[in-house]
Amino acid sequence: MGLPLAVLNAAAGRPTVIYDVNQRSVELVRSGKAPFFEEGLAELLAKVVESGYLTVSDQPEVIADARYVVLVVGTPVDRYLNPDIESLFAAVRYCRPHLRTGQLLVLRSTVYPGVSRKLQDYLSDSGLEVDVAFCPERIAQGRALIETGSLPQIISAFSERGLADAREFFAPIAPEILTLEPLEAELAKLFTNAYRYIEFASVNQFYMIAETQGVNYERIAHAIKHRYPRLAHMPGPGFAAGPCLLKDTMQLAAFYNRQCSLGHAALWINEGLPDFIVARLKKDYPLHTMTVGILGMAFKADNDDRRDSLSYKLRKLLRLEAKRTLCHDPMVPDPDLQPRDVVIDESDVLIIGAPHREYRSLDLPSSKVVVDIWGCLPQDRGTLRP
Ligand SMILES: NC(=O)c1ccc[n+]([C@@H]2O[C@H](COP(=O)([O-])OP(=O)(O)OC[C@H]3O[C@@H](n4cnc5c(N)ncnc54)[C@H](O)[C@@H]3O)[C@@H](O)[C@H]2O)c1
Repeated sequence: MGLPLAVLNAAAGRPTVIYDVNQRSVELVRSGKAPFFEEGLAELLAKVVESGYLTVSDQPEVIADARYVVLVVGTPVDRYLNPDIESLFAAVRYCRPHLRTGQLLVLRSTVYPGVSRKLQDYLSDSGLEVDVAFCPERIAQGRALIETGSLPQIISAFSERGLADAREFFAPIAPEILTLEPLEAELAKLFTNAYRYIEFASVNQFYMIAETQGVNYERIAHAIKHRYPRLAHMPGPGFAAGPCLLKDTMQLAAFYNRQCSLGHAALWINEGLPDFIVARLKKDYPLHTMTVGILGMAFKADNDDRRDSLSYKLRKLLRLEAKRTLCHDPMVPDPDLQPRDVVIDESDVLIIGAPHREYRSLDLPSSKVVVDIWGCLPQDRGTLRP
């Protein structure tokens, strides 16, 4: 998320420097190339690097000259689903000698509630007059450049000066600014992601109920949404995963003493969808004799990000249960994947793992068993029934 924000700032005419520890990313960005896919990023990045407005470094000294320092490192949960803030504080400790009194530190990572306060206290205790402003990123991955200019920006800080600086920082790139207290802003971001995750889980649960009864969920969904405004925004079923929704729902659950039962239920349902597919296939077909192909390994459509993708979880399950598993993705850079035609020709069962644009016109042979939870194929092959 740091790169699109840096590019937008540079494009708005602000000299911008990125500091990152990932040497490969630093070299790619320095040469004007995007290390991952974001709509419109490749073109704009090349332009701002060429113009000199965006520079990149693997040395933390570069932050000393900055008026605004934006912190966007990852904030994962650990294997026991506890928030892991160590890497965020390690990054700050490492950069501490190069921070200067008078700078604004915009905390852009999604954090466990209270981390902004901890960070402000750490900096103040170390003798620096640096204001921390927690200003969450709410764009959808892949659409950062499009959405940043259209979504209201929530800002928060611990002083009027910090708020004024945060407002000044976002004014050239955000259309509207909303102010919250830091704890409110931290919760606002976690609620945003947890709500999406729970919403997807509701629909995935409905899908599993319908399919277990041998009826077609897509037909039901069409009927209940048709000219019925209260359900107009109901999403479709599909793998709900990726680097944010699950871990942010679990940060919220951890914050609420593990009593966030809706969040935990959403995790069981969403993470259980690959298991559901495999169990249904096993029930209806001699899966152990069959080759299964997964089309789409990214965690979402038209993206190259495979982090926490449920297609990889599905592959893991199929490697235990099917005779052979083949995978394709047009965007994910993974040497273990096969060409699309090989996957289609050699598989007995085909499962859509991510509804990439290029699959939406696929006319899959009728001899194949097809699982299309998303309902993205031109023909209705959404059912798990034979
Ligand atoms: N990915 C999203 O869609 C999204 C959306 C909204 C918010 N967020 C939040 O933004 C934050 C970053 O997410 P991301 O997906 O961009 O993560 P990422 O891992 O893709 O990017 C983090 C970057 O920080 C660099 N980094 C790590 N440690 C560093 C250090 N000590 N010093 C300098 N650089 C360091 C990494 O090399 C990497 O380039 C997370 O808190 C996430 O929850 C992500």
